[in-house]
Amino acid sequence: MKTVQLAENIYWVGAIDWLTRDFHGYSTNRGTTYNAFLIIDEKVTLIDTVKKPYFKDLMYHISSIIDPKKIDYLVVNHVEMDHSGSIPEVVEAINPEKIICSKMGQKALVQHFHQEDWPYHIISSNEEISLGKKTLQFLETRMLHWPDSMFTYVKEDQILFTSDAFGEHLATSERFDDEVNQDVLMHEATKYYANILTLYSPLIKKLLASVQEMDLPIKMLAPDHGVVWRTNPGKIIEAYTHWCNNQGNGKAIIVYDTMWKSTRLMAEKVAEGLQEEGVSYKLIDLQVNHRSDVMTDVLESSAVILGCPTLNNGMLPRMAGFLMYMRGLRPTNKIGASFGSYGWSGEAVKLMNESLKEMKFTMCHKGLKVQYVPQENHLEECVELGRTVAKSMADHMAGKEVESVI
Ligand code: FEO
Repeated sequence: MKTVQLAENIYWVGAIDWLTRDFHGYSTNRGTTYNAFLIIDEKVTLIDTVKKPYFKDLMYHISSIIDPKKIDYLVVNHVEMDHSGSIPEVVEAINPEKIICSKMGQKALVQHFHQEDWPYHIISSNEEISLGKKTLQFLETRMLHWPDSMFTYVKEDQILFTSDAFGEHLATSERFDDEVNQDVLMHEATKYYANILTLYSPLIKKLLASVQEMDLPIKMLAPDHGVVWRTNPGKIIEAYTHWCNNQGNGKAIIVYDTMWKSTRLMAEKVAEGLQEEGVSYKLIDLQVNHRSDVMTDVLESSAVILGCPTLNNGMLPRMAGFLMYMRGLRPTNKIGASFGSYGWSGEAVKLMNESLKEMKFTMCHKGLKVQYVPQENHLEECVELGRTVAKSMADHMAGKEVESVI
């Protein structure tokens, strides 16, 4: 991979990871990138580094532009190991005059690498540092998605380096938004938001408002994963505005697991009820869908209907695991309902309902459970559950108050 120029004297020098398929439990089927950027000025500056195994790629890219020892400043926008894992080697190789980070960044760097005497230079929001011709301005973005996270803005070039925000896990030979397939790009950006950022939606809302208030002209958004948004940064900002407001797309998803196919039968009938009312739906069997793909559908849906039989007084482990994952990410502002078959105790529906209520979903149905194998009348109740969800969705989307029935 060659380095790529973003603007005069600003280069991408990161690494492409074609191999990774799991990012702490998130399936990264298209790999990822660890973006780092080099600014050539009176003070040569490296913005972010790469995951430890890619240190040599970073050095190779930097060396094709300048002797790495000439780097004066290292900016650390975020300390998570995919961006900072190689920092000890980088510090040894370049011996920087300053490591520029937030206060929380310094704390996290010490806690990760146990080096109290590195040349930390702590900045806070709106502070500026001149590199000579170019000026860096900083914006702390605490808890987006770590306490140390911050953005770095190059005023003269109007490039905002956004760490994890506006990124996607996508390994490509191309570096810019206009060079890749738009459907793939937006799918991966959606998946990234769903699995990394959903929990922080209220903070993202505030961040977007404060960036707007600062009135920063933005020519490019340069995240640490995926492509640099040079042609259409407004596209990803618009998508984030949509996602952080928890606006669904008017579709329903039925997420289920099944033991002896009774719950699958029920799921198919719930789908019939949705279809009768003109609602577009997706049937998602957890046996063949990865939780992080399901979360992508959750983010964009307006209703989530869960189906699971009872096993040992609880849910099947795949549903229990999925709900633990989903609860952690806290999607909200959706219609919810549950169903499932059981043998003799039947707790699964109650447990799924509790999870949905905890996420403040509007529960439009008390829950439907059927002993062993559903008969015709049970299947009709499933169709009716689908109709009920569809009607609640219509009311919800029309701005009418929909009350939870449990
Ligand atoms: Fe890409 Fe939070 O690290």
